[in-house]
Amino acid sequence: MLEQIDSLRSLLDDEFRAVQSADDLEALRLRHLVKKGTLQGLVDQLRSVPKEDKPTVGKALNELRTWVENRFDQLESSFAHQQKVQRVDVTLPSRRPSSGSIHPITQTVNDIIGIFSSMGFEVAEGGEVEDDAHNFGLLNFPPDHPARDMQDTFFVEAADRGDILLRTHTSSVQVRVMQSTPPPIRCIMPGRVYRNEAVSARSLAEFHQVEGLYIDKHVTMADLKGTIMSFARRFYNESAEFRFRTSYFPFTEPSAEVDMTCFLCSGQGCRVCKHSGWLEICGCGMVHPSVLRACGIDPEVYSGFAFGFGVERVVMMRTGIDDIRLLYENDVRILEQFR
Ligand code: PHE
Repeated sequence: MLEQIDSLRSLLDDEFRAVQSADDLEALRLRHLVKKGTLQGLVDQLRSVPKEDKPTVGKALNELRTWVENRFDQLESSFAHQQKVQRVDVTLPSRRPSSGSIHPITQTVNDIIGIFSSMGFEVAEGGEVEDDAHNFGLLNFPPDHPARDMQDTFFVEAADRGDILLRTHTSSVQVRVMQSTPPPIRCIMPGRVYRNEAVSARSLAEFHQVEGLYIDKHVTMADLKGTIMSFARRFYNESAEFRFRTSYFPFTEPSAEVDMTCFLCSGQGCRVCKHSGWLEICGCGMVHPSVLRACGIDPEVYSGFAFGFGVERVVMMRTGIDDIRLLYENDVRILEQFR
């Protein structure tokens, strides 16, 4: 019996050495390690071994079994590892690292800046916390004008003054530019503004504007119209038509609101233009002489125009996003659509 055990061990040793693949190992298992295999065959013979020899033979059999199982497990796990490694297909294209993208509001502001700079406009910026004079007073808002009301304006608690607020438009930057720069002035003011409005699909308490200001000798309403129309043709649609409607702003006279034929349906009427065929694109006007004077510019010598519009509305028209709040939630599933 002990000889048989020894010879099975050396046979298995040879066969283990010869194993080259998982298939070879499986064949070995089927020959030796199953119920009808050689190992179990020897175990079955233990019954007929004389009683006094049983402990020695049994021990030898157990040692053989442990040895076989160890060899088998070792080989099996090395093949499993190899299989995993082999499953890597090196010809596949590599995974790209995911990259961020520029927010659609920033993209739109950049595009607007690009067009105006090609027309000679510079970018001017100012603070978001302003005083009443720069946001309202110097812009010809009378002291009791409803726009100053607590309902529209966020006031900031400042230690010793009650006139500090979050700017409600970037016209405050126009004032600062006029106060600090002698004409000619040709600049646009992009930036974030704040109004105390109920948050809905169409409005937020925080949004972006781009305003423009052009001051020189002999600037007329024709310059205003030409500038706005050539911007809008390049930005929206080369063949757009325009409508200037009279309007009112305290800081411009005359004032107008500009409509453009809808760039989506060319004026036929669609969801974006609410079936009117027209899209409102900006407010504008000739800078009021009182504003020029208040900012240290002689209205007898200089004249100028200003315009302004909200950026989020432009982004919504361009992208088809119909809830303004989506632009502020920073959900990558939305943002990655506008790379
Ligand atoms: N400041 C105005 C607003 O916030 C926009 C505007 C700017 C209108 C310049 C006319 C001229 O609504």
